[in-house]
Amino acid sequence: MVIKKRNLSIAYGLLTVLAAQLFLVSAVYAGEFFSIKDGELERPTGYREWVYVGTPVTPNDMNNGKAAFPEFHNVYIDPKSWAHWKKTGEFSEGTILIKELVAVGSKAAVSGNGYFQGDFLGLEATIKSARHFPDEPGNWAYFSFSTPDHKSLKASAEAFPAEACNACHAAAAADDFVFTQYYPVLRSGKGTGEEATGGVSSSLE
Ligand code: HEC
Repeated sequence: MVIKKRNLSIAYGLLTVLAAQLFLVSAVYAGEFFSIKDGELERPTGYREWVYVGTPVTPNDMNNGKAAFPEFHNVYIDPKSWAHWKKTGEFSEGTILIKELVAVGSKAAVSGNGYFQGDFLGLEATIKSARHFPDEPGNWAYFSFSTPDHKSLKASAEAFPAEACNACHAAAAADDFVFTQYYPVLRSGKGTGEEATGGVSSSLE
């Protein structure tokens, strides 16, 4: 009886390990850092722990008080797609880039005058997926979770029509619809492997 109980608990233990492995495998195979339900992208989470690639800034005060995407744009790429980018120099199926909008909080610091980041203002995303967006140009779809008063975020968003976003990205972005020319981490990390991680080479590339 005792042995049976022990066997049973070993069996349970094994089952738990198997279930955990299955979950891991399915998470890896699915390989997606986003979730689309009923045609809408659910607001991605966890992106501040992805790979940070750069911060363009289009301050309102240089754009008649109303920049299309106000102020700082902190841009992140999911870690799996970053690994693919530094290896191949290409954006893989399932790439997601997040652009988090941040206000100019202050224009002076002890270091000098400038633009310093203030409060979060909004969230945009773009995803490359032939599986989800077979008809979008380049298979990229564009989303916004920002709200007009910039005080909260939407829980989900549907893709914009191609003329609203894809067209400008297609015409002016350096790499496959992505403005890598403004993201030093992606620009210098393109297909450079270990060098992409920083600090490996003594050059400033
Ligand atoms: C007039 C051109 C233009 C249009 C239209 C445009 N974008 Fe962009 N977008 C840019 C530029 C330039 C950058 C990089 C510099 C920056 O952020 O200011 C960028 C960067 C982005 C990024 C970061 C990843 C990347 O591809 O570089 C996201 C996400 C994004 N835009 C979302 C959108 C969404 C959503 C729309 C449609 C509502 C849109 N964009 C429309 C020019 C445009």
